[in-house]
Amino acid sequence: MACTSETPIANEAESPPAITAPDAPQQIFETTSVASPDGEIEFTLRTDGGLLRYTVDFQGEPVIGQSRLGLRFAESFGLDDDLEIIGIEESESDKTWEQPWGERRVVRDNHTELLINLRRAEPDIRFNVRVRVFNDGFGFRYEVPEQANLPATVSIMDELTEFNVGAQTDSWWIPSRMYNRYEYLYQNTPVGEIQMVHTPVTMRTDFGAHLSIHEAALINYSGMSLEQEREGVLEASLAPRSDGKKVVVNTPFVTPWRTIQIGDEAVDLINSDLILNLNEPNKLGDVSYFEPGKYAGIWWDQHIRNGTWGQVQGELTGLHAATTERTKAYMDFAAENGFKGVLVEGWNIGWDDDWFNNGDVFSFTETYDDFDIAAVAAYGEQVGTRLIGHHETSGNITNYETQLEDALDLYQASGVRVIKSGYVADDGNLKFVDANGVPRYEYHDSQPQVAHHIKVVQRAHEHQIAMNPHEPVKDTGLRRTYPNWVSREGARGQEFNAWGVPPNGPDHVPNLIFTRMLSGPMDYTAGAFDLRPNEKPPVRDDFQRNSPASRIEHTLAKELALYVALYSPIQMVVDSPEEYAKRPDAFQFIKDVPTDWEHSVALDGEIGEFAVIARKDRSRDDWYLGAVTDANARAVEVELSFLDDGNYEAQIYRDGPEADYETNPYDIRIERRTVTSEDRLVLPLARSGGAAIRFKKL
Ligand code: NOJ
Ligand code: CA
Repeated sequence: MACTSETPIANEAESPPAITAPDAPQQIFETTSVASPDGEIEFTLRTDGGLLRYTVDFQGEPVIGQSRLGLRFAESFGLDDDLEIIGIEESESDKTWEQPWGERRVVRDNHTELLINLRRAEPDIRFNVRVRVFNDGFGFRYEVPEQANLPATVSIMDELTEFNVGAQTDSWWIPSRMYNRYEYLYQNTPVGEIQMVHTPVTMRTDFGAHLSIHEAALINYSGMSLEQEREGVLEASLAPRSDGKKVVVNTPFVTPWRTIQIGDEAVDLINSDLILNLNEPNKLGDVSYFEPGKYAGIWWDQHIRNGTWGQVQGELTGLHAATTERTKAYMDFAAENGFKGVLVEGWNIGWDDDWFNNGDVFSFTETYDDFDIAAVAAYGEQVGTRLIGHHETSGNITNYETQLEDALDLYQASGVRVIKSGYVADDGNLKFVDANGVPRYEYHDSQPQVAHHIKVVQRAHEHQIAMNPHEPVKDTGLRRTYPNWVSREGARGQEFNAWGVPPNGPDHVPNLIFTRMLSGPMDYTAGAFDLRPNEKPPVRDDFQRNSPASRIEHTLAKELALYVALYSPIQMVVDSPEEYAKRPDAFQFIKDVPTDWEHSVALDGEIGEFAVIARKDRSRDDWYLGAVTDANARAVEVELSFLDDGNYEAQIYRDGPEADYETNPYDIRIERRTVTSEDRLVLPLARSGGAAIRFKKL
């Protein structure tokens, strides 16, 4: 195995393969197969009456039945009919590469590749399907060369890729192309009840195999949702552009990888690096300006109605949260506790009144008069923390892009190293103003918005800034290629517990772990210590709290466990310094837990039910463990064989005997005991409870 480091220098050797097609067919094949290195997964492609189809077996059982492949264009014959396999080339690869930050430092990429050359006979149009089969799943993509019988620019009107998984297969999913983007509660139904879903979508077959369908390296293309076309057959549905086309692209081009992770156990999906392995290596080079870590912020205050984003909200004034004074207090709190930054939302002009609809008026450089950005930047430097930037676009992409350079200049000059951005607008309502001044409205995952995100991460990198978009496009592993794209939202996060009815509920995190989290880091924003903030008296009579039905349906120990269970290199510490001051013993875990890992291993779990994940600190010899459960109490047994040799002090934060997310969420026990890798722990998890452990190396 060769080891390639991706940091700090980009690895030139692994640039995208050249797209070629043989001149004249030597031989026509009707079928071709390729197996994973361990032989357990077999991918077969065949032509059948001119149509292209694939099947996949896992351990000899079919996981994907006959499923069609192809692309259709507006300007030309498509890659959909009259097809022949005219060349086959198989190769193997076994390498490791390093992540600058991540849930593991060293990633192994061991796969078998099959490059299949195809031809549409009449007119003669060539393309390739490249398949990579790993022990944990496979991916394939279309590669289309420049050629005489295709215009230089083609409009993809339909991608025919199917996933024939069967109507009875159990699935966990969120709906797609609905107004709230990716922010839905997960549903668990047979595939037969799906209409259109986002990926990753997770499944369990009738013989117990676990699958996750997704995509990797979504660049210059539209996001793929899956639509049930015929019973049990999910078909790619590309987010349409505002001009009605799905994708407009110049030849040569490659599509994103269509991926399926496959494992015996549910946790195999979490332990898979398939999505990262199917992305191109680091193109940016050194991103050491980005330091993984935790951040506090002026954020929860607005969500639980302690203050307002704008200076004026309807009739209300005098409640503006983002003041210089409050920011300095948060900076003191962050510095005292070793947190890397302080997020401040609502610092810039544009939030007044109904900010959801203020996309046209946001300024990304002008501050409210009670927020002195130079003063807070200087204060952060003095006490030893940084401002975390915030750009809410409210969906007006053009307004943001027009100001982007100035906005990044201002933040760079203010010591900012990470910006959280926001795209609050209903799906399909991102506003792009064209060269004639005409507004076009796009989906959060259509081709223009995919391009926008990449533009922003590239520009941010030039300013030594990392990005954390909310209401983003889904993650497809591009953090490997653009490692300043450090986190994102893209699911229901903690904010729903402040004002969502219903709130996230006990099974949401066990669902996220086996669905959304398979795509990459999430800025969930954990660490609520007041689990019923809406039961507090309002800060002013004319500013009532949200409904008390919105609350954190977790025990306190489960909120701690999220720092390990939900991976992100930046993790928020959401609650106020005042709340943490009430429970310094539990707060100690948040102070201790790192956000960058040498290694991670999902030990146990079932989709939507529970999960147990262990991670080793990248800069110390300590290990950490997070366990979470749904509304069912359970005892989880954990073999500590993942620990290295020697003794550890296990600092255990677990649910107490009376803990219950509804009746007694604060009952927590904090214990210490000496353990080794020979030991086994039994962790009692309360209803919607959890356990968080630091294994401190002695
Ligand atoms: C939605 C984000 O998810 C949330 O964290 C943020 O506070 C608001 N947008 C305002 O930008
Ligand atoms: Ca959101």
